[in-house]
Amino acid sequence: MAVYNRKDSYYKKAKQEGYKSRAAYKLKELNTKYKIIKNGYKVLDCGAAPGGWSQVALEIVSDKGFVVGVDLNPITGINNKNFISIAGDFTTDEILNQVLNVCPLYDAVISDIAPHTIGIRDADHTNSLELVEKVYDFTIKTLKKGGSFLFKLFEGEGRKGLVERLKKDFKDVRIIKPDATRQGSMEIYIAALNKVN
Ligand SMILES: C[S@@+](CC[C@H](N)C(=O)[O-])C[C@H]1O[C@@H](n2cnc3c(N)ncnc32)[C@H](O)[C@@H]1O
Repeated sequence: MAVYNRKDSYYKKAKQEGYKSRAAYKLKELNTKYKIIKNGYKVLDCGAAPGGWSQVALEIVSDKGFVVGVDLNPITGINNKNFISIAGDFTTDEILNQVLNVCPLYDAVISDIAPHTIGIRDADHTNSLELVEKVYDFTIKTLKKGGSFLFKLFEGEGRKGLVERLKKDFKDVRIIKPDATRQGSMEIYIAALNKVN
């Protein structure tokens, strides 16, 4: 019962406050704690549709920064001149080049990218990890020194190796389950803070 009440409360809150997804509250919570995005930042949002995270990021960066949102699905209804939407597959060179053409060096990369889940934990984890690794490889090239990388992962045995790798590239790595995450969900968020080089 508590699970559904909580789910409903975030869903209703998002509707009332004009956010495109309840996920918006996960980014608000994570950013309040870890200051991944700041005023004036250039932000890359991977797996951005329908656009809740991008809306929150746009509020934080203000008129001084901008947000590039990439998703397989087009993101509609965000009427903000500081928002650039790219529709396509983040795992393709064509889309990566488009992202680079907009901006070669970002201050923060956030990724809520997720595969279609099939309900088999190992398979969902493997598919999620594959996507995350693609985003990570790109992030290493396009995130400025001192910048931070926040992403979602479906829990599984590959997490340990990934965190080890992150610890070499970032000064601080945190694993978090936000309050707005549904109970029983296998999603976790990893905040890799302060890129070393
Ligand atoms: C949980 S949703 C993101 C929700 C979003 N953060 C928000 O607040 O509205 C995950 C998104 O990842 C996208 N996605 C999955 N695989 C992708 C890929 N290869 N390239 C781009 N987007 C992808 C899906 O289309 C989906 O919209």
